[in-house]
Amino acid sequence: MAWWLKVNGSCRKQTEAGQRAPECSEVIGCDEPLKAWIALKTKSVDFQRLEEVFAALLPTWTDMSGCPYFEKRHLLFKNKPPADEDEDASQAGVNKASKGGIIYGDYLQLDKIITAQVLQSEVKGNKIHDEHLFIVTHQAYELWFKQILFELDSVREIFVSGHVRDERNMLKVNTRIHRIVMIFRLLVDQFAVLETMTALDFFDFREYLTPASGFQSLQFRLLENKIGVPDNLRVPYNRRHYRDNFKGQQSEMLLSAEQEPTLLKLVEAWLERTPGLEVDGFNFWEKLRINIYEGLSKERQKTEKMADGEEKEDRKAEQAKQREIFTSLFDEKHHDHLVSKGERRFSYKALQGALMIYFYREEPRFQVPFQLLTSLMDIDTLMTKWRYNHVCMVHRMIGSKAGTGGSSGYQYLRSTVSDRYKVFVDLFNLATFLVPRHWVPKLNPNVHTFLYTAECCDSSYCSSEESD
Ligand code: HEM
Repeated sequence: MAWWLKVNGSCRKQTEAGQRAPECSEVIGCDEPLKAWIALKTKSVDFQRLEEVFAALLPTWTDMSGCPYFEKRHLLFKNKPPADEDEDASQAGVNKASKGGIIYGDYLQLDKIITAQVLQSEVKGNKIHDEHLFIVTHQAYELWFKQILFELDSVREIFVSGHVRDERNMLKVNTRIHRIVMIFRLLVDQFAVLETMTALDFFDFREYLTPASGFQSLQFRLLENKIGVPDNLRVPYNRRHYRDNFKGQQSEMLLSAEQEPTLLKLVEAWLERTPGLEVDGFNFWEKLRINIYEGLSKERQKTEKMADGEEKEDRKAEQAKQREIFTSLFDEKHHDHLVSKGERRFSYKALQGALMIYFYREEPRFQVPFQLLTSLMDIDTLMTKWRYNHVCMVHRMIGSKAGTGGSSGYQYLRSTVSDRYKVFVDLFNLATFLVPRHWVPKLNPNVHTFLYTAECCDSSYCSSEESD
């Protein structure tokens, strides 16, 4: 017979009552009434089955602190079933793990993850409490970076293999991009946990981690590259190239992430084929251009008729500005010039597609594309917020000291909170070109039909294979 004893606040199993530990403060139960109790709980009369269940559970019960019955130990000695039927139902079921198969810790490989917090301060013989939080926070970030890369790669693959020609796959793209957005939201807020550490606490162990730095985060750089942060717009780091911090395989991975089609380039190609842009079809761009110039000249005529004065002059100045904006929109050479300066990123055709989706976002065919464009802006915004929250925290932790990685620290990081790192900057700027609804070309019935049937009728839109 086995006994469960309370020893120093936790439970121990003792097979011989006579060998009771001297420090035992309470006898909690023994196996015979426990068997009886399980029989009552499961309402089973199959004694053989009970023996099996009990035998499977018993080896794991040498310490009952995690035992589901521990909290109910007062029931161990009761002979009657509990009166409360609900409580009874809550205990129904059999521990499936007893039947074999993979268990929680093995499935998640927790032995690797939860043993990976090696405090350098402890290794050096001066354990500093907050270093544990510092390590866990960075590891949590890296795990989420990994998930973002996983989603990003899958989305890029859908685009690369041409599966977006079947618009039904856009829902999958959208869902995954939206998931990335949600993860970024979490990452932006997660700094608050690390900020519970004070600058002094950080100072206590900072020396032990030099020259390690987030600047050497491979996944962060891959993420930037795969989204489409261009190499030539990056802020140099001690006048050096960011890739100089990486060697061998890591450096190669970064280089190929720069050369592979980025999310920006893939979205660009997808936008270029927005239905309705065809010059020999609906020709959205030309119609829009005509409507806008007509609208602007009507406004100018109205202004001319106004009585001379300050208001008239203000309006004229405003309208001149508007005309300049739209001249730049409809001038392809000007667009290419802005692209060469990094102020615009999309091709001229892609910009037209994006604007078309903006204007006709309520059309069923454009609703999912519109949501995608919105999520892409969210990613840019959240990455900027990430950089901003990070730099604020860094300022608070190290003031204007140099970083452990060797940069100027706060000064360097502050210069990265800039539009240079915004990938979908053109989507933000679309709002500059919004016009009154009645200036937007009306969709004629043919175009309406086209928007619904393009995928079925035009072989260039057909996808033969299923995506993942
Ligand atoms: C006490 C907390 C932290 C401090 C004081 C700090 C400090 C710094 C500094 C000074 C840099 C500039 C490079 C250098 O010279 O080292 C940097 C870069 C970086 N840190 Fe942190 N950091 C902290 C927390 C984090 C966390 C939790 C992450 C999450 C992964 C992170 C990720 C990065 C990344 C990705 C960079 C490169 C940014 C870029 O070059 O645009 N840092 N950090």
